[in-house]
Amino acid sequence: MTENLTPGQLFVDPDAWTNMSQWHERVAHIRRTTPVLPLDVAGYENVWVLTRHSDVFNVSRDNIKWLNTPRAVLGPDADWQKTVASGMPLPASLVQLDGTKHQKHRLVASEWFKPAAVGSRQSRIDEIADQFIERMRELGTTCDFARDIVQPYTLRVIMDIYGVPHEDEALMMELTQGVFGAADPEFMGDVGDPGARLAVSIMRFIQYFAAVTEDRRACPRDDLATVIANGQIDGCPMGDVERLWFYIIVATAGHDTTSFALSGGLEVLLQNPAQLQALRDDPNLVVNATEEIIRWTSPVRHFLRLATEDMRIGDSIIPEGGRVLLSYPAANRDETTFVSPMNFDVRRTNADKNVSFGGGTHYCLGAQFARREVRTFLGRLLPQLATIEANGEASWSRAHFVSGVKHLPITYCFKN
Ligand code: HEM
Repeated sequence: MTENLTPGQLFVDPDAWTNMSQWHERVAHIRRTTPVLPLDVAGYENVWVLTRHSDVFNVSRDNIKWLNTPRAVLGPDADWQKTVASGMPLPASLVQLDGTKHQKHRLVASEWFKPAAVGSRQSRIDEIADQFIERMRELGTTCDFARDIVQPYTLRVIMDIYGVPHEDEALMMELTQGVFGAADPEFMGDVGDPGARLAVSIMRFIQYFAAVTEDRRACPRDDLATVIANGQIDGCPMGDVERLWFYIIVATAGHDTTSFALSGGLEVLLQNPAQLQALRDDPNLVVNATEEIIRWTSPVRHFLRLATEDMRIGDSIIPEGGRVLLSYPAANRDETTFVSPMNFDVRRTNADKNVSFGGGTHYCLGAQFARREVRTFLGRLLPQLATIEANGEASWSRAHFVSGVKHLPITYCFKN
């Protein structure tokens, strides 16, 4: 429940993200009254929270004056100080790199994510979607759509590109939940606190991908793991730290995000039967509906940017070295960009103006995959169903960085 939280806590307290209607109501007030909000939460760096669409968009696009830096995600200061004191290399995935170093690393794999390359994998995405629609048939007339169908579906699409075998999918799921859902007791496992859970997951990722690198260097294949294992920067092999983080970001960012978009998308469709019907009546709407789902769910809750000089945003000055938090879900409900932003509308004409995938040089590498995964699944499932309804309350993951609907009980009936 959000009523006891201060404005700043709404952005960092994991509980705040378990009831999004309340969250959006409170944040709408903040956006109108304090669009550049000092976080002011004990134990956290005092970043400025940006909730207006124009501010999030403009800062995202200016990759010269605003940098990502290794501290691209907001966590407790004590955790960050522990990471620094441990002497372990700081995170160095694409989102933590800046300037030409970022550009050169992104180039290593960018061919795989271009529209034509992603389009050429459509038949494989269709096949994987069909496998999970078949699983729904096998489960009868009820399932937990988020846990039983969407999570394994989105995971398999990415692991298929990666070249990770089916038997390792469960491990990838567990480790991703350790990275993104570390504060959610359901994903905590045997480890006592979120910081430790995160560290354990990263160590296990490192071990797993060290073996993958060895294998793909010895026996290259036509998969993304081979591209990362053999990636070169200025004619030399990519650094060990950057390579490991490259694997980790694609493995993690690649499925929990899309899975929350699809589970949250079905949740809102079931809450709005007229919208679901519109989509069923006109299957061509699925492309725009997918944009609206991505606006509505905004599964990545923020990234940070650091000011390289004093920067003015509205009436506020962010001093050189200060950080801003780009609140994507808040920006996606800005009434000055989206008409009636609290309404879900599969026909919204500017749904594609959402900032869920960020912007500028860091614009989500996997956006084409994410869109195709969502629209392929809905586009193939809905025509086969006679009915589909909620079968109890949905529940939300307790996490402030990447989160969404983690359980969605549904009941359904196939046409034959
Ligand atoms: C609905 C699903 C997704 C959402 C909402 C999402 C969101 C984001 C956001 C907000 C960023 C940071 C952009 C910025 O800093 O301006 C990002 C970056 C990234 N995403 Fe996604 N993402 C999704 C799906 C995917 C998928 C499917 C993949 C991989 C196949 C992926 C891989 C990446 C990578 C590698 C980056 C780092 C790009 C860079 O810094 O150059 N994402 N994503």
